[in-house]
Order: sequence, then structure tokens, then C-alpha cells
Amino acid sequence: ASASAEQFAPSNIALCKYWGKRDAELNLPINASLSVSLDYLGTHTRLIPIEGQVDEVWLNGQQLQPGARFSRKVSAFIDLFRRDQTLCFKVETRNNIPTAAGLASSASGFAALTLALNDALALDLPPEALSILARMGSGSACRSLFEGFVEWRMGQREDGLDSHGIPLDASWPGFCIGLVEVDAAEKAVDSRSGMQRTVETAHLYQSWPLQAAADMSKLQQAIQERDFSLLGQTAEQNALSMHATMIASWPPLLYWQPDSVAAMQKVWQLRAQGLELYFTMDAGPNLKLLFQRQDRDVVLQHFPNLETVEPFGSE
Ligand code: DP6
Repeated sequence: ASASAEQFAPSNIALCKYWGKRDAELNLPINASLSVSLDYLGTHTRLIPIEGQVDEVWLNGQQLQPGARFSRKVSAFIDLFRRDQTLCFKVETRNNIPTAAGLASSASGFAALTLALNDALALDLPPEALSILARMGSGSACRSLFEGFVEWRMGQREDGLDSHGIPLDASWPGFCIGLVEVDAAEKAVDSRSGMQRTVETAHLYQSWPLQAAADMSKLQQAIQERDFSLLGQTAEQNALSMHATMIASWPPLLYWQPDSVAAMQKVWQLRAQGLELYFTMDAGPNLKLLFQRQDRDVVLQHFPNLETVEPFGSE
């Protein structure tokens, strides 16, 4: 039995990044990570059961070819849930964030698809099981099952049943994230191939799991104590360390554009003037700014057109 279903999942921004897999099939990470979910920014997914041999995948109002990379990924993911081959879906995916620009739309996409499949097939699975399933679509999707701060425990098991997101019992009113769009075009090297290349070719990557473990404790402390500068420093250094491993890969992986560097320098200048402003970046040219509500107007003066999100509301 299957029914129509519609679900939303938020995008998430990692403050300690997931970079490197110990199992590429199951998306099991080499390190734990920690993110914050973006409230209303994310993906709406609608599933409609259809007669046919193949799924129909629509992205932001446009039907994709069945052979398109995204369609194949979506169909392969639905295969995990499909009990017989005649069960197909029309999948309507709508992102309110730029797709594939390093804004983790694959995370919200697979999380929303998992939630919608859970409804359409009346599976009634608990959140941790849903997080494990979403992880198999895209690693970072396991964090988008939850609101607020989320830890992805890396787990030890080979079957991955202990590798999923867990929401932190913490709130931080006034915590702001600003999205600086440098380039919304689809990135040339996706995260999956990027991290594989880094793990295989960058000697520098050896230090990454240690960096990530240390940053996880610092972030947990920062969140518990609402220590914004500790959080910002840790997140920024974590992101730049990840990018250092990418640059040290061969062939080199540099996701930055001149405008990315210009934005970083602007952040450093403002910080030198006393503003509590930090950034993080994923596998793309865009920056995500971290700041507090009381500094929002100043930040907006320097970064006009900034899309801002307050995941825990204002103070
Ligand atoms: C840099 O979750 O997109 O954004 O598991 O291969 O689908 P796959 O990778 P993905 O990687 C995200 C990498 C990152 C850091 C992060 O979000 O933790």
C-alpha cells in the first residue's frame, strides 16, 4: 500500500565538517560532525504513487531525464524502500536554497525524501532509523532530520546502525547564520568525489580526524556555555582545515573563487575592528557567516543581500 505524501526537511550547516568516508557504500564517516539546521530553508518533497516502470523526478518544477545524475540517485534511494518493481513514484522536489552551491541541498533533499517515503509507505519508523536511511542517500542528510544543533555520531559498527544524527538538547536565541552567495552554479566536483580524492591523495588528511575530534569537544563546550567566540573560532578553523586538506589533494581541489577570498578578508577586517563575525564554508565557493542578533545590522551593512536565518528565534 502506498499513498501520496509531502514533507519538509531543513538544510544544515556543519560547524565541524564531515569530510572522508570509511565506507563509501553506506556513507559512514571517518569523523563525527556537528551542524545547525536552517529552520525554514530547505526542501519540500511530494511523493505521488504512479503506474509505470520508472520514477518521475521533478526538481524545482522541471522534469528531469530518467538518466540524469540526480534522478538516478533518487531512484536508487527509493530502491532501498521499494518492495516490488511496480511501485514507482512521481517525486516533486522543491528547494528554497540554491541547488548544489554548497548549501547542502542534497542533505535537506534526502532527509525530506526519507520522511515522505516513511509516510507514503506507512513505515512509522523512529527518528534514528530515518536518520540512518537518509544518511545512505547523502551523509550530511542524517543531520537534516532534526532541528537546531545536531551531532552526527560516527559510530563503530560496520553496518552503520550506530551512525546517525542526534539532536543536542540546546537552544541559542539570537544565533544568526548569513548566506553569502558568491556563485550559485552547480559545483564541478561534488562532495562524494572530492572527499574520496582527498582521502586517497592528501597526506595532510592524516591530521584531519584529530582536528575534527578536538573541534567536536570545543563546539559542545561552546554551545553549552553559549560562548560565541569559541564557537565561531572553532567553526572557522575547522572549515579552513578541511579546505587545506582539499588543496593538498592531487589533482588539487580548490572550491574558492576570488570573491570567496574577498569575503573572507572582509570578515577578518571586521573582526579586527572588534565585530564578533566568523564564517564557515562547504565544498563550494559560498560563505556562511556566523554572528549574533545584536550585530545583525552592522553585518548587513557590510554584506547587503545577505539571506539570514535565526535557527532558534531572536532573544
Ligand atoms: C563539505 O553529505 O554531500 O558539506 O555523503 O557523499 O553525499 P555524500 O556527501 P555530502 O558531504 C557534505 C560535505 C560538507 C561538510 C558537511 O556538511 O559536513
